[in-house]
Amino acid sequence: MTTVKHLISLMDWTPEQVLVLLDLAQEIKAHPEEFSTALEGKSLGMIFEKSSTRTRVSFEVGMTQLGGHALFLTSQATQMGRGEPVRDTASVLSRYVDGIMARTFSHEWVVELARYSHVPVINGLTDYLHPCQILADFQTVREHIGHLKGLELCYLGDGNNVAHSLINGAAKVGANIRVGCPEGYLPDAKLVERARREPTAGSILVTTNPVEAIAGAEVVYTDVWASMGQEAEQKAREAVFAPFQVNGALWKQTAKGAVFMHCLPAHRGEEVSAEICDGTMSVIYDQAENRLHAQKALLVTLM
Ligand code: CP
Ligand code: NVA
Repeated sequence: MTTVKHLISLMDWTPEQVLVLLDLAQEIKAHPEEFSTALEGKSLGMIFEKSSTRTRVSFEVGMTQLGGHALFLTSQATQMGRGEPVRDTASVLSRYVDGIMARTFSHEWVVELARYSHVPVINGLTDYLHPCQILADFQTVREHIGHLKGLELCYLGDGNNVAHSLINGAAKVGANIRVGCPEGYLPDAKLVERARREPTAGSILVTTNPVEAIAGAEVVYTDVWASMGQEAEQKAREAVFAPFQVNGALWKQTAKGAVFMHCLPAHRGEEVSAEICDGTMSVIYDQAENRLHAQKALLVTLM
């Protein structure tokens, strides 16, 4: 099996690499003590241009639990915010740290970072993708549903970063995915086409009909209607996205035993009703916990 250097997009990984990482995540979750010195003496630089609760804390705690150390670097508090070129940032950080995680607006910035970095680069969310989230999500699906291949997966809401990575991930593990979004908020057509060409891909349907997307789903996933950086569009989006709210009425269409997933933070009463978000079908906190285990597996694999 070829080794992976970075995680910028799940599309850059083979299906086998994704599945091996999920196995390792499960092993680390079951036996964390066996990995307590796996990254002894190693440092992870964490660049944040956007807010974060889960990503920051799970990577930082994950590094500590693996015997290493993490540095929280904001663009404002570093020379990045004053326009230092990405090439210089990548080259210099590579001489200090053993890995770099970055959460930025621009996806191209992270791609550039990886181009010039001599150490592994992890995409901790860009406007385009959120691959780390999907690794934790698939670990959670394995725990609650048991299978990924042939899974009936539904995503309702904005065809954005989380939806994009979910489509990529589904193609890698052979899950069938139906993505329901309002007109004008569909996922990137090129990304969808690329995912469909993946030999392991199941069916990938994009629709503007929420009922068509959710009918028979074993997993229903949603995300905020206005992502970080889109706050000014909040009101306009609420009107457009209303039919895509995951609520009791739509839930009646799901398969028996279906689970509800959300990357969090969630806005109850917007993309999901409280009865679903806090109901027995919800596995949102398991997902959040698995960010820690899946990313520890990622750090061990890359660093
Ligand atoms: N899901 C997720 O990435 O959460 P944070 O924005 O809190 O990191
Ligand atoms: N789509 C959301 C995900 C947050 C984890 C955002 O980009 O803000």
